[in-house]
Amino acid sequence: MDGNGRWARQRGLARTEGHAAGELAMLEAVDGALEAGVEWLSVYAFSTENWRRPADEVRYLMHFNEAILQRHRDQLHEKGVRIRFSGRRDWRVPRRLVRGMDEAAALTAANRKMTFTICFNYGGRAEIVDAVREIVAEGLDPGKIDERVIRSHLYFPDMPDPDLVIRTSGEHRISNFLLWELAYSEFVFTDVLWPDFTRAHLFEAIREFQGRNRRYGRVEAP
Ligand code: IPE
Ligand code: MG
Repeated sequence: MDGNGRWARQRGLARTEGHAAGELAMLEAVDGALEAGVEWLSVYAFSTENWRRPADEVRYLMHFNEAILQRHRDQLHEKGVRIRFSGRRDWRVPRRLVRGMDEAAALTAANRKMTFTICFNYGGRAEIVDAVREIVAEGLDPGKIDERVIRSHLYFPDMPDPDLVIRTSGEHRISNFLLWELAYSEFVFTDVLWPDFTRAHLFEAIREFQGRNRRYGRVEAP
């Protein structure tokens, strides 16, 4: 969900105002995805690198995410959305936010219309490191370690690899998002800044995705 800061700057507002404006875009994306029948939607809300931002912006984002959860948890639950958080629970994530995440996940755990994964304090490299740590701790024979074993130690082994990744705001990078899982994902890049992203943009990206020829290393489409 990129471009909040630039959206705010274009309007002479503080960066945090851009994050606030991004809240509606996120809800719109969830509703659009529900309308399109998307069963798995993930958003990148805060990366393991975002701690490098100014302290007041980091603090704002922590409280902001807690407030978003409080504001929208029940609505999402009523819509049949299962909420999950993917990422590291380190000491820097405020206790109250962790509690809010756990409560939202528990409340919505049985929902199946859509799984909405919020990647928070998430890093693709950190996820792989954490998987390796677990595998080593289990004392697995190196010869038995294959792709299936690594996948089964990721944060959410049941999450299918994403078909489509949409990156907003004109940037053309992965920025440490789902490194393992994106091996064969299709990418759509748009110049739209996140607060301006609507379900029409989502549908446009899905249509573009539908026209892609996915070969997975083969010559013909499977
Ligand atoms: C939101 O956009 C991303 C978050 C970490 C919440 P940015 O804050 O990266 O916006 P830009 O890139 O400065 O425009
Ligand atoms: Mg950015």
